[in-house]
Amino acid sequence: MTTTTPPTSDSTKGYVPGLAGIPAAISSISYIDGNLGILEYRGYRIETLAAKSNFEEVCWLLMKGHMPTRMQLESFRAHLAKHRQLPERMVKILEAMPGAGHPMAALQAGLAALGMFNQKPDFRHPDEVEEAWVRILAATPVIIATFERMRTGKDLVAPDPELNTAANFLWMITGQKPDEFAAHVMDVALILHADHEMNASTFAARVVGATEADPYTVCSSAIGALTGPLHGGANEEVLNQLREIPGPEHVVTWLDAKLAAKAKIMGFGHRVYKVKDPRSSILQGLATQLFAKLGSTPLYDTAVELEKEMAKRVGTKGIAPNVDFYSGIVYSKLGIQTDLFTPLFGISRVAGYLAHLREQMQDNKLFRPGQIYVGAHELEYPELRTRG
Ligand code: MLT
Repeated sequence: MTTTTPPTSDSTKGYVPGLAGIPAAISSISYIDGNLGILEYRGYRIETLAAKSNFEEVCWLLMKGHMPTRMQLESFRAHLAKHRQLPERMVKILEAMPGAGHPMAALQAGLAALGMFNQKPDFRHPDEVEEAWVRILAATPVIIATFERMRTGKDLVAPDPELNTAANFLWMITGQKPDEFAAHVMDVALILHADHEMNASTFAARVVGATEADPYTVCSSAIGALTGPLHGGANEEVLNQLREIPGPEHVVTWLDAKLAAKAKIMGFGHRVYKVKDPRSSILQGLATQLFAKLGSTPLYDTAVELEKEMAKRVGTKGIAPNVDFYSGIVYSKLGIQTDLFTPLFGISRVAGYLAHLREQMQDNKLFRPGQIYVGAHELEYPELRTRG
C-alpha cells in the first residue's frame, strides 16, 4: 500500500527556503542594515574601521567585544607572529597535496590537520578557544602561502615576525617585501571580509561549533562552506566574468545577452543588501588609489561600465554590486593569482568564525531543525527477484 501525500501549499506552510530572514542566533558581533547599506562590527562603522583600524585590532574587537589597549594589541601581535611557524610535519602534509588542487581545499584540509597538532581536552574552556584563535589566525595565511610557493615550485619564504598579517602574507607569497601602500590595501581588504553576521559559512561554523567540535574542525568546515560560487567563491568568478567581456564598449551587448539567457551576473545582488554593499564602495576606492600609483587596468573600466548598465536594468530591484565585485580587481593589481582570492576571504573570515564560535558556546544549543516530509509511507518491500 502506498500512501504518498503530494506536497500542497498548506503542507509546506512555514517552510522558508534558505532560512531567509530567520534569526539563527542572538549576536552582538556585527550588524547590517541592508536598506541603508550599513555594516558595523561591534558597533563601529565599517568605513571607520577601514580608515583607522587594522586587521589585528579588528580580530581582537570581534572576539573580545572591545578595542584592545596599546599593550594588548602589541602582545597579541607578538603572539600571532610566534605562531606563524607551521609544525614541520604540517609542511609535509601540504607538500603531499596535489598542486593542481584548489587552494581552498588545501586550506580546508590544512586547518583540519592543524587541529591534530593541537589537541586539547576541552575546547569549551574560553582560554582554550582563545589559544586556538591565535593559532588559527596566525596559521591560516601561512598555510595558503606555503601551498602557493610549493605548487609554483618556489622555495618557501620564512614568516617575518616584524610584519603584520597583511604584509607578511604578501611577503610569503611573493618573496618580496611589500611597499607600505600595498600592505595597507591588503590590510583594509582583510578588515572588510572579517565578519558579516549570519552568512552561510558563519552559520556552518555555528552549526559545527554547537556540536562542541574543536575550533579547527569548526573553521575547516566553515571554509568548506565558503568555497562555493554562491558564497566566497564568487570573487574568483567575477574576475573570470569580466575577462569574458572584450572591453567596456562591449558591456551592453554582453549584458543583454546574459540577462536574456537569465544567466547569473556574478558580483551583483545580496541576500541582505538592497543597495550597494558598503564594502564594495570601499574596495572600489582602494582600486582607484592603486591605479593612481600603478596605472589602471582595462578590467576596471569594464567593471564600472557593467555597474552602470546593471543599475539601469535592475537597480530598482535592489540588485547592486556586492563585496566580490571589486575585490578581485584589487587583488589582481597586487599580483595575486585568481584562485587565491577566496582563500584571502578565508584568511580574514576565520576571525569572524571564531568570534561566533565563542558567542555560540556562551549559550549553546545544538542545531537540530525540523523538516516537512513529503515522501512516501508504509511501502511494501519489493523482493529483489521481482524488480526486473
Ligand atoms: C559575506 O560577506 O559573507 C557575503 O556577503 C555573504 C553574506 O553575507 O551572506
